[in-house]
This record gives sequence, structure tokens and C-alpha cells, in this order.
Amino acid sequence: MKRVITYGTFDLLHYGHINLLKRAKQEGDYLIVALSTDEFNKLKGKKSFFDYNKRKVLLEAIRYVDLVIPEETWEQKVEDIHKYKVDIFVIGDDWKGKFDYLQNECKVVYLERTPEVSTTMIKNSLSENKK
Ligand code: CTP
Repeated sequence: MKRVITYGTFDLLHYGHINLLKRAKQEGDYLIVALSTDEFNKLKGKKSFFDYNKRKVLLEAIRYVDLVIPEETWEQKVEDIHKYKVDIFVIGDDWKGKFDYLQNECKVVYLERTPEVSTTMIKNSLSENKK
């Protein structure tokens, strides 16, 4: 049983997210998503459209996702890897190299981002269309 973990905000869930989650699950058998809390997003300078609980419900409805846990700090990753007996850490390649330090704990995989879609792009496009 290989356990995979990934991190993110997953706001306004889109096909880039689904692609990422599908391929993350294919890396192993059990997928944990550490979902950024609203407080942690504030720290990152982000504000999501859907609050934490709504984003969690959406993720839990996805067949690839087995467990959603809160992401509250940058530093929790090593602890999560131990606590949840994680074998593989997966994230999009916009983070390439940033989490290489986790290679001491588990396998680290950067997956290619799906081109031409992001939450920011959707938000910008919707607000442009309003004008
Ligand atoms: N992701 C992806 N392809 C995309 C968008 C996101 O593979 N087109 C991945 C990211 O690399 C990350 C995960 O999905 O591993 C969650 O990303 P998140 O930052 O929540 O989504 P974005 O759409 O990038 O949001 P934003 O525009 O706010 O940065």
C-alpha cells in the first residue's frame, strides 16, 4: 500500500486540479490532500472564493482522493509524512525544486502542470467578462 500526499488550495476546482489528483493517485494506492486552510491562505497572500469546508467537501467527492487534512503551516510536511506514513510527495512543477529537501523522508515527484488553466485565470476571466 503506497501512500501519496499532495498540498494546495484547490479553489474553484478545475480540470487542471483533477488532472493533478488523478496522476497523483496513479503514483500509489492512497491519496491524501493537505488542503490549505483559510488562515494559511491569508499568510500566503491568497483569498479563496470557497472557504475551507466547501473546498474540502468538493475534494472529498473526487474518486481519487482518500483523505483531506488541513495544511496550516509551511513546516508541517515532514511531520505529515511521518504521521501518515507517506511514501510519495507529489506537487505540480510550478514548485519544481522547492521541496527537494523532502527527499530525505520520501520520494518527491513534480508533475507537469496542465497548461492554460488556473484558479487565478478563471477569476480574472470572470471579472473581465463582468465589465
Ligand atoms: N495544478 C496543475 N495544473 C494547473 C493548475 C494547478 O497541475 N493548471 C496543480 C498545482 O501545481 C498544485 C495543485 O494543482 O500542485 C493545486 O494548485 P493550486 O495553487 O490550488 O491551483 P491553481 O489553479 O494554480 O491556483 P492559483 O491560480 O490560485 O495559483
